[in-house]
Amino acid sequence: MSLFEIRNLSVSFSTPEGSVEAVRGVSLGLAAGESLAIVGESGSGKSQTLLGALGLLASNGRVTAGRCVFAGRELDCGPSLEGLLGSQIGYIPQDAMGCLTPHLRLGAQLGELLMRHRGLGADSARRAARELLALVRLPDPDFRLDLYPHELSGGQRQRVAIAAALAGQPAVLIADEPTTALDVTVQAQVVALLRDLQAQQDLALVTITHDLGVVAALGGRVMVMYAGQVVEEGQVEEVFRQPAHPYTAALLAARPAAEATRAGPMQTIPGSPPQTGSLGPGCAFAPRCSIAGTECIREAPLQTGMGRRVRCHQPLIARAWQASP
Ligand SMILES: Nc1ncnc2c1ncn2[C@@H]1O[C@H](COP(=O)(O)OP(=O)(O)OP(=O)(O)O)[C@@H](O)[C@H]1O
Ligand code: SF4
Ligand SMILES: [Mg+2]
Repeated sequence: MSLFEIRNLSVSFSTPEGSVEAVRGVSLGLAAGESLAIVGESGSGKSQTLLGALGLLASNGRVTAGRCVFAGRELDCGPSLEGLLGSQIGYIPQDAMGCLTPHLRLGAQLGELLMRHRGLGADSARRAARELLALVRLPDPDFRLDLYPHELSGGQRQRVAIAAALAGQPAVLIADEPTTALDVTVQAQVVALLRDLQAQQDLALVTITHDLGVVAALGGRVMVMYAGQVVEEGQVEEVFRQPAHPYTAALLAARPAAEATRAGPMQTIPGSPPQTGSLGPGCAFAPRCSIAGTECIREAPLQTGMGRRVRCHQPLIARAWQASP
């Protein structure tokens, strides 16, 4: 049974040029101990999906449709989930530095979170802050409790951001681009840490990334987004071995051979993603798709599939596809 679900979420932004539909009917669900990676090019709606669900959109954004479910309780997506943030749901924003307070030592800021979420006194909170830093494998945690965020390396800051998100002992951990701007060795360490935490603490882990190597290292399930929609979802191994959506196939094919088995940023594929304010009636990927037919330009494909979700008129693998709502 799913611990956390987003059902049919749509998010739009008002801009001087008109309304931008950043997220268009996205659904996801995951059980305790499961890992889901969300991947897609810049602007595909990865961050806004989670920000919309958690009530953290910019002031010009709003959730126009969708429901969220946490531990069997159905809620409106948006502000009603804000109460779960920091406690049942840990969230690490795309800018890890942004979630740390620059003028507070690590011990003080983690301690504050621990007092708030676990009801600890000052001494116990400091001990628990030290334990959190050790849990995220920050070397010499006793010494680092008294440092400020700017005195840490990028990788160390990312570990502290993970520690801060774990302060409330969440059941769900959401990490937005946890490895961006880190060098390859540190990236691998952060991914290994997330995987271990997920397994040890039975966390439902959502990792947003543009790095297919990170997706491969995380395992579990992957959800591929394009122009605000989920175009493919399935088990990482199966999707990587045999992508069903032409967009997923193009992303995987664009990876240099040397990167097929190790971490690396997503390579670009020819053409650019559409502006979601100016989508036609057909498939959003059609202008870049090498097998687009007349039906693709006329009509947007529905999501189909059992086990593997695919949004395409001509999926690349032959299976008994069944229309789903
Ligand atoms: N405040 C805003 N006002 C208008 N449009 C916005 C706003 N915030 C996001 N968008 C638009 O929403 C779309 C989806 O953005 P989102 O942040 O989810 O992208 P992303 O997939 O996370 O990309 P990245 O990999 O660059 O982080 C983009 O087209 C973006 O321009
Ligand atoms: S629906 Fe058509 S254009 Fe879109 S990805 Fe599938 S084949 Fe390509
Ligand atoms: Mg993002």
